[in-house]
Amino acid sequence: MRISVIGCGYLGAVHAAAMASIGHEVVGIDVDQHKIDALSRGEAPFFEPGLPELLAEGIESGRLRFTTDIAAAAGAQIHFVGVGTPQQAGRYAADLTYVNAALDSLLPYLRPGDVVAGKSTVPVGTAAELATRVAPTGATLTWNPEFLREGWAVQDTIDPDRLVLGVPSGAAGERAAQLVREVFYPAVDKGTPFIVTDYATAELVKVAANAFLATKISFINAMAEIAEVTGADVTQLADAIGHDERIGRRFLGAGIGFGGGCLPKDIRAFAARAEELGKHESVTFLREVDAINLRRRDRAVQLVIDALGGSVFGKRVAVLGAAFKPHSDDVRDSPALDAAVRLHGLGASVVVTDPQAVENARRVHPQLSYALDRDDAVRYADAILLATEWDEYRREFAPAHASSLTHGRIVIDGRNALDPATWRSAGWTYHGMGRP
Ligand code: UDX
Repeated sequence: MRISVIGCGYLGAVHAAAMASIGHEVVGIDVDQHKIDALSRGEAPFFEPGLPELLAEGIESGRLRFTTDIAAAAGAQIHFVGVGTPQQAGRYAADLTYVNAALDSLLPYLRPGDVVAGKSTVPVGTAAELATRVAPTGATLTWNPEFLREGWAVQDTIDPDRLVLGVPSGAAGERAAQLVREVFYPAVDKGTPFIVTDYATAELVKVAANAFLATKISFINAMAEIAEVTGADVTQLADAIGHDERIGRRFLGAGIGFGGGCLPKDIRAFAARAEELGKHESVTFLREVDAINLRRRDRAVQLVIDALGGSVFGKRVAVLGAAFKPHSDDVRDSPALDAAVRLHGLGASVVVTDPQAVENARRVHPQLSYALDRDDAVRYADAILLATEWDEYRREFAPAHASSLTHGRIVIDGRNALDPATWRSAGWTYHGMGRP
């Protein structure tokens, strides 16, 4: 099938490459010339395991190409729109500028029978509005939310755990659903749930999923706050409640909290949309979810201050991790970088390291010092803050080796990723998040 993918960021680039890998003829389109040049050379403009191989394979096969020219969308039967919907400056609502611009630029190239599949995370009600603009072309708008996780994006795109599609009622919607089914044939053939629904439900599925995940993380972080004043251990608590299948252990990782380009802005946009709909009380709890999450960053910083005797001024602090989570170079709303910036503001000499995200972090926060190498980062440090649980820091970092490099023997484990007993027995003062 001939496919166009508009927007070649984390979502679109992976989607385009994945579609080519399952046999479609794909053109990826983006306004950013640098991104397009890199992708055309088979280089991923961001770190995503498996993507470079998929790009190389697609380009080599001739099924995958990239361009800045939107006219290249002409002739595709299905057009995926995967542009960003960031938080508006100074507001909680989502910024739909890129979605609107992408659609406007696509309209002249749509033919009757074409399908437009929106993948961007949008406020509920957006698709219905966009559909009125698509209608005069004879094409059909559908909404196909994306649930991929950075770091696992290739796998999540090729083999998703469910497919959701919002369609208009009637024959056009049914035809569009059939076409989308054919596009995703490998997943559909193996029995992946394919939920065809209305626009509003499809839009809400995405924000509801992210709101639920964020709530689960903040729930366990709230328990961490209680654990901290009672001497309980939140990691054992999470293990114990996680054995209940109705609860499950995943996303009960207490620590410095969630960040990234999705969870924080999606819960805020959801709250803003609910308010517009006159239903702010239905999601008031999301404000609390957000507040708990941000308090954990304060807590991590406070732990460093307390561990260093009440002030970090003039102290050297190594921050392990800059990405918002491992297996990603994404520093958008990264709790790790936020903590590093705050410690720097309090007068600490902060050295940040990350296996993948140093360049991105440096661009956003040039005032911090960076080390490409973990050992260089911790050398002479008075304290270490583990902020992103890469294996290099959690499994492959022996306390005896750390002791040979650092000045102090203080480790603050912002992800509860280290074994406290191992570090303590090596002479370190260990502080976890919600652990005694
Ligand atoms: C998320 C959703 O998981 C995905 O389905 C959606 O499509 C996009 O948003 P992503 O932003 O890639 O994906 O990251 P995710 O793996 O969900 O982690 C989000 C944040 O939560 C990270 O900062 C992570 O460190 C944090 N987290 C996750 C915790 O603090 N504790 C946990 O137990 C799990």
